[in-house]
Amino acid sequence: MRNLDEQSITQAVLNQNASAEDCRLREIMTSLVQHLHAFARETKLTEAEWEKGIEFLTAVGQICSPTRQEFILLSDTLGLSTLIIAQNHKKPAGCTEATVFGPFYVSNAPHFELGADISRGLKGTPWFVSGRVLDIDGNPIPNAILEVWQADDSGFYDVQKEGLKEYQGRAVLHADSDGSYHFKTIVPECYPIPHDGPVGKMLQALNRHPWRPAHLHFMITAPGYERLVTHVFREGGEYLDSDAVFGVRSSLIAEWVRHEPGIDPDGNLSDMPYYTLEFDFVLSREAR
Ligand code: BEZ
Ligand code: FE
Repeated sequence: MRNLDEQSITQAVLNQNASAEDCRLREIMTSLVQHLHAFARETKLTEAEWEKGIEFLTAVGQICSPTRQEFILLSDTLGLSTLIIAQNHKKPAGCTEATVFGPFYVSNAPHFELGADISRGLKGTPWFVSGRVLDIDGNPIPNAILEVWQADDSGFYDVQKEGLKEYQGRAVLHADSDGSYHFKTIVPECYPIPHDGPVGKMLQALNRHPWRPAHLHFMITAPGYERLVTHVFREGGEYLDSDAVFGVRSSLIAEWVRHEPGIDPDGNLSDMPYYTLEFDFVLSREAR
């Protein structure tokens, strides 16, 4: 294997990889090498451009930390995350669609009783969220676990705040025996994805903004059902058609209903306007 040129190099690499024992790895690496080489040929990539690409990926790696995953942000902003979700979560019509996970989930969120105020003192417009967790036939799924997380009314997640003492705006809840859930929080705002790193620079160079439309995250699990990772977006909100991470699906947009001051769903007198959201989730059965 000598004198490789711009055509013969591809097959030479494939031949070298051919004895990999893991056949899925071999399949993935074969396709990756073919597409990578085709990309370099198609764009007639120069050495300076290749170097710039290496510098970019190096910067993406260097900014990563236990609380900052720039590679996932890169995948999200290139639409790869949405593509992977779409091709791995084909569900029967009527099931709630999945969308991007995002970097702000934590696995040790506080557990709350149904009806609790999960904002834990965040300032903002009160919001009463309720609904049911159902199967595809409309039957309640009792005792499903709902994990919820959200930005505050300035667009920041608790984990982005310095000196964080306790989580705010996130919770683990157990749906009731009739599949219903409800909790109180505050209305979250739109926010820009972390854009002070290489992905932010990439977006700027591409004349793209880093904003996401206002949303509430849910991860719902129940035995026998596929785990659902999704959001509920605000109808009429900004950025629904230009989400920086391509996560919006029409079926996940719902009305966040505004109410004038008065008696709120908890039976208390609210001297400020408050919002309500009612949203049912439909889980698909786990593949056997
Ligand atoms: C989020 O919604 O939390 C998120 C998703 C993708 C990238 C950044 C943030
Ligand atoms: Fe989010």
